[in-house]
Amino acid sequence: MPRIMVLVDKWHKDIGAFILTLPQRSRFSALPSAPTATATATATATATATAADGPFSYQSPFKPFTTLSLPKPHQPRKTQPSVVVRCSKTQLLSTEPEPVFTSVRSFAPATVANLGPGFDFLGCAVDGLGDHVSARVDPSVHPGEVSISEISGDNAKKLSKNPLWNCAGIAAIEVMRRLGVRSVGLSLSLEKGLPLGSGLGSSAASAAAAAIAVNEIFGARLSTEELVLAGLKSEEKVSGYHADNVGPAIMGGFVLIKSYEPLELMSLKFPAEKELFFVLASPDFEAPTKKMRAALPTEIGMPHHVWNSSQAGALVAAVLQGDVEALGRALSSDKIVEPRRAPLIPGMEAVKRAAIEAGAFGCTISGAGPTAVAVTDDEARGRAIGERMVEAFMAEGKLRAEAVVRRLDRVGARLVSSIPR
Ligand code: HSE
Repeated sequence: MPRIMVLVDKWHKDIGAFILTLPQRSRFSALPSAPTATATATATATATATAADGPFSYQSPFKPFTTLSLPKPHQPRKTQPSVVVRCSKTQLLSTEPEPVFTSVRSFAPATVANLGPGFDFLGCAVDGLGDHVSARVDPSVHPGEVSISEISGDNAKKLSKNPLWNCAGIAAIEVMRRLGVRSVGLSLSLEKGLPLGSGLGSSAASAAAAAIAVNEIFGARLSTEELVLAGLKSEEKVSGYHADNVGPAIMGGFVLIKSYEPLELMSLKFPAEKELFFVLASPDFEAPTKKMRAALPTEIGMPHHVWNSSQAGALVAAVLQGDVEALGRALSSDKIVEPRRAPLIPGMEAVKRAAIEAGAFGCTISGAGPTAVAVTDDEARGRAIGERMVEAFMAEGKLRAEAVVRRLDRVGARLVSSIPR
């Protein structure tokens, strides 16, 4: 069986850190539970992952190498993310930060990735659904390490408490590494509000909440893009290298991933005065992102490229103009990804038809599915649309489903409480 190793190349004397190299286009299979519950924050490169045994798992083409550069000056995270954020290289802080809180609790919202034609480069956050992470300074945890003490909520038993194999743990370790924390150990507790494999960015919400929590404990020194890169580390390991969930989970609102190497994120401002509702119909069915990525074509024809590119452009324009009807039309238009995935989700084609017939401006698969997302500008109509979608899941897919109507979350991951030191 092929192995993919994360290698420690050498100790870099100038910056006091290991240089790690990762093989490009690495692929990982489902994560086994590992026996220990702690891991070094400097990720002493013991992580070895087994290469995927199954079919080709789609990876975005510009997966970067991890490189280190000299530290940049302290740059606290802005609460309102800038329009464009860029990060070409991993940054390490020169001095080890002190904790400013003994404990914090954070929240990160659910996300709708792809938004139809924006596969792997467009996503948005939705309000009222998400994961919480509590992080506390814990003298019983080895300095520089992270431990996961508790996981509660939906499907908690399916998740590993080993931080190397848990989305929150992986992101927390990466934030500790980027901050250069060596003298303090942290305990995390994860409260899952989102179901696994639902298409609502469950893994990204855990990673984003953990990244924010750890960063805040140490005085919020990392920038937005560094937090997204920490979340990407986790996404890469569990489902594939894509930032269209973790970007909006951290930044809120609509986010365009303009480039992966270097990572460039654009926050797309949907006008504050406009009404926009997402109808999210989630069937009782699991669609693992890895499997749904494996169903995608490795190449596409020029006509499909032209069509999807024009629709993605139209979608960005509709977001910026607050034109919900045009947004819905563009969201509904994907000819590359949705046609491959919809047949794998029982009833999806009928659900989309039912949503449009009930007055939705558009409907598609949320992320990798199985949740279907429709958009409207009226909350009451949104509830009626949701009922039709649930009926269609049952009638055509023989699946029980639940529908909720949500607004855009414009804030992204945030602290909900903290205890100062
Ligand atoms: N862009 C990713 C995909 C999102 O569609 O595979 C997964 O939630």
